Amino acid sequence: MKTMLQIKVTKTKHSRLPETDFNNLVFGRSISDHMFVADYKNGEWTDLRIEPYAPLSLNPANSTLHYGQAIFEGMKAYKNPSGEILLFRADANQKRLNESAVRMCIPELPEEIFMEGLTTLLDLDRNWIPDKPGYSLYIRPFIFATDDYLGVKPSETYKFMIFTCPVGDYYSKPVSVKVEQHYSRAAEGGTGFAKAAGNYAGSLYPAQLAQKQGYDQLLWTDAKTHENIEESGTMNVMFIINDTLITAPTKTGTILKGITRDSVLKLAKEMGYVVEERFLKVSELEEALQNGKLQEAFGTGTAATIAHIAKINIRDNDYILPKKPDYAFSYQVLKKLDDIKYGRIEDHRGWIV
Ligand code: COI
Repeated sequence: MKTMLQIKVTKTKHSRLPETDFNNLVFGRSISDHMFVADYKNGEWTDLRIEPYAPLSLNPANSTLHYGQAIFEGMKAYKNPSGEILLFRADANQKRLNESAVRMCIPELPEEIFMEGLTTLLDLDRNWIPDKPGYSLYIRPFIFATDDYLGVKPSETYKFMIFTCPVGDYYSKPVSVKVEQHYSRAAEGGTGFAKAAGNYAGSLYPAQLAQKQGYDQLLWTDAKTHENIEESGTMNVMFIINDTLITAPTKTGTILKGITRDSVLKLAKEMGYVVEERFLKVSELEEALQNGKLQEAFGTGTAATIAHIAKINIRDNDYILPKKPDYAFSYQVLKKLDDIKYGRIEDHRGWIV
């Protein structure tokens, strides 16, 4: 295999492709044959390689296991009608990985290692990319600390890895969400904007409490007043009230700068929608629900794509959202995004590689 960087490729002797049921894919359970690995030591990223997907061997003193110095990305690869592999806004994921890295004291990863590691891996595992509409290959790049040391300080060694999984929808049906006004996901000055592993760990307990009450996810509010709606567990959230699309701004550093979020906002403006990047108050959402002014509510994310919200709980009151007409913005924008990602329409925005 030809690469510009030196990437050592060791192919698997036993592909798991024949035993993978592409008709019953559970998100993140079926992992493709190979993984890309690079090590950081002595101040540089080195030893680039692709190996058969396999368990890692770690010492119990591995610092990630104790202090969580770990970040990740989520992205997807698609096949176009002629079978070519398409990546959606991969440059944005590469940049965001490094923004997360800086916040977590992890050394930044050069763009060419990210891109060449990824494209070499995808080329090798191209048969794992589903070609059915609505399906794709989910890509999980991540970096974690590998020092065996219990002192609390940035590690001096790291691993960057990428593995992939064929996936369908993350949410198989519209989701129900509960507005969380006690626990917090992120505070100003914290790590909310970064795709840091610990952000997800900290969200599990409050989310589990809501799940026990029958909700799929939380709608997080700001840590100071708990009155401003921020984001949901695995996605940014958007609301359409009076034909205006409203979503939380990213300037507070508490919101993940979603690439789907950004793409939907750009497409919404092109489609003539008024877009407001501002905090929607819980009381404003409640009033819009009571007056029937909330036209649509949905989450946006790489895994979730566009996840329709069917029920919102605010201060123990359940509000059922009206059924959306076929011309609803969230359906239109999902179709537009899919047309771009699957190469069905021309990409004049430079989003596809
Ligand atoms: C993604 O949308 O790629 C995410 O990172 C969400 C993930 C935690 C399932």
